[in-house]
Amino acid sequence: MEFSIKGGELSKLKTGCVLVGIFDSKKLSSPAATLDAASKGALKAAVASGDITGKLGSTLLLHGVSGVAAERVLLVGLGAEASYSDNAFCKAVTAAFKALNSTSATDIVVPLNLTTTKEMAFKFEQVAIAAITFAYRYTATKKPDDKKVGKAVTFFINGKYDDKALKAAIKNGEAIGEGMNLTRNLGDLPPNIATPAYLASTAKDLAKAYKFKCTILEKKDMEKLGMNTLLSVSKGSYLPPKFVVLEHNGGKKGTAPVVLVGKGITFDTGGISIKPSAEMDEMKYDMCGAGSMLGVMKTVGMMKLPLNVVMLVPTCENMPGGNATRPGDIVKSMSGQTVEILNTDAEGRLILCDALTYAERFKPACVVDAATLTGAMVIALGHITTGVFANDDALGAELVAAGNTAHDKAWLLPMGEEYDEGLKSNFADIPNIGAGRAGGSITAACFLARFAGKYKWAHLDIAGTAWHSGANKGATGRPVPLLAKFLMKRAGV
Ligand code: BES
Ligand code: MN
Ligand code: ZN
Repeated sequence: MEFSIKGGELSKLKTGCVLVGIFDSKKLSSPAATLDAASKGALKAAVASGDITGKLGSTLLLHGVSGVAAERVLLVGLGAEASYSDNAFCKAVTAAFKALNSTSATDIVVPLNLTTTKEMAFKFEQVAIAAITFAYRYTATKKPDDKKVGKAVTFFINGKYDDKALKAAIKNGEAIGEGMNLTRNLGDLPPNIATPAYLASTAKDLAKAYKFKCTILEKKDMEKLGMNTLLSVSKGSYLPPKFVVLEHNGGKKGTAPVVLVGKGITFDTGGISIKPSAEMDEMKYDMCGAGSMLGVMKTVGMMKLPLNVVMLVPTCENMPGGNATRPGDIVKSMSGQTVEILNTDAEGRLILCDALTYAERFKPACVVDAATLTGAMVIALGHITTGVFANDDALGAELVAAGNTAHDKAWLLPMGEEYDEGLKSNFADIPNIGAGRAGGSITAACFLARFAGKYKWAHLDIAGTAWHSGANKGATGRPVPLLAKFLMKRAGV
């Protein structure tokens, strides 16, 4: 995608499509009014026809507007002017790119008003993210239905502005968008392609491109380290497990890194506690925690973020089989705690707990994990909001705030002693499931908390937000924007 910034006369810009806004009072935004004047009232006439009301997210495509050099003008509803916010801007941008995806326009012009640098930078970044994520097509095993993808975005702005700051905002948006697209592609790939070895080779590619240090621990290395809960999950599969480590040393030498941990179950059948067959294909998305951490490492690499970041991805398949772990098996985790595996479908926490123990060696500033951990998360927060759990209130709040800035929503949920009491086993230090189904996402977080005692830690349950089901089945790229904003803030960017 090519990005540029231009000024001059909007009506004279040659482009596939120019985007302009209209409020629900039917008032034209100022760039829309400029085009209306140049066309001697074509936009007002379109509004008078009643085909567009200005309702937030509504769109109307106009062709061949006289006096306007652009091939198309896309009118986008901005909603009420009085309540026009960053959130409304994001919704309008999403709607505009959705509408653009059904045209043949590949280069567009986005006029924006001259306001504060902060506000303009936000808008530039959001438009860049949208342009890049809307150009994503899954192509690995199928030709895309529409071959046309966006190629160029020109920001149109007149007046004196901070060119450097706006160019940086575009770069940041590109990095976030590309990170999201990598995450989506990894999620969308079938489980016979996106295997543990595939995730490891993706990490190696990132290491090469962005000069990360990459270490892949193999099964024998994990055995030596005593990562037996991780290994217990992979036992039913023919595919060997991998433990992937990426290190970005962008910060001052010796400063404590942020450690990111992603659940990388490349397919979750449930194991011996096998899942029902309906929609089981969607369990290819059970590596989206890992996918989002690989994605955000791409973002970090593209941004050359001045921060030390370590990524840990424990990855394997959860399959039934003659050698699979049985309900009732007891294994000793790397931390030394014994775990009674009462349900082999609660496997995410079993691979994460050894990764949380491994994280200790990096003396982290904090550890943040992302995992499609519990079906209960979907019941609690639906597909809109990611669940956050933390053993440190400030870290939890920091992640929620990052989600708000990124328009990638997250919400803090409770943990604590009363919930932890449900985790009792007669035969091991801890069972891998609680006594009942109630509060299942919290029980899972409490399990992880037992292994994250030595540092500040937060857990993102992305079971509801990592992918869409149904006709538009596909990975979302979340929570890459949240994580990117979290890391950017920590890096002082
Ligand atoms: N990967 C699933 C969680 C999941 C299910 C995410 C559906 C998104 C949609 C996880 O490994 C799992 O199976 N969790 C169990 C835990 C239970 C056995 C305590 C669950 O949620 O049912
Ligand atoms: Mn499971
Ligand atoms: Zn799972």
